[in-house]
Amino acid sequence: MAPAYLGRGYASEAARAALAFGFERAGLDELVAFTVPANTRSRAVMQRLGMTQSPADDFDHPLVPAGHPLLRHVLYRLSRGAWLASMAQARS
Ligand SMILES: CC(C)(COP(=O)(O)OP(=O)(O)OC[C@H]1O[C@@H](n2cnc3c(N)ncnc32)[C@H](O)[C@@H]1OP(=O)(O)O)[C@@H](O)C(=O)NCCC(=O)NCCS
Repeated sequence: MAPAYLGRGYASEAARAALAFGFERAGLDELVAFTVPANTRSRAVMQRLGMTQSPADDFDHPLVPAGHPLLRHVLYRLSRGAWLASMAQARS
């Protein structure tokens, strides 16, 4: 995102719309997102949306060469049930 637009919630709003489409229109059971551990802003977006990360899901990206500093990735998950529960809570 262009620096002038950081910190305004746009990324979270867009990601929330993508989750809504995936769960409510496409009928998916789970959505995942990933980034490198040091990308704290991306991780904050995922966490803001209620996605959760487990060290057991960490992985080496298959397109990144061995030994590269961006090889390791963290994976965040959100289930359809958790999404629907958060939507119900937001409406109450
Ligand atoms: C990833 C990226 C898009 C996240 O951008 P971001 O600005 O941190 O995220 P958002 O647009 O959701 O904004 C969140 C911030 O806006 C604030 N905000 C203001 N109004 C808001 C609103 N109405 N709703 C939500 N958040 C709001 C939040 O409090 C948060 O502030 P904080 O960063 O001080 O905690 C950005 O860091 C980026 O472009 N990075 C480079 C590319 C990259 O990393 N891509 C992803 C690879 S995996």
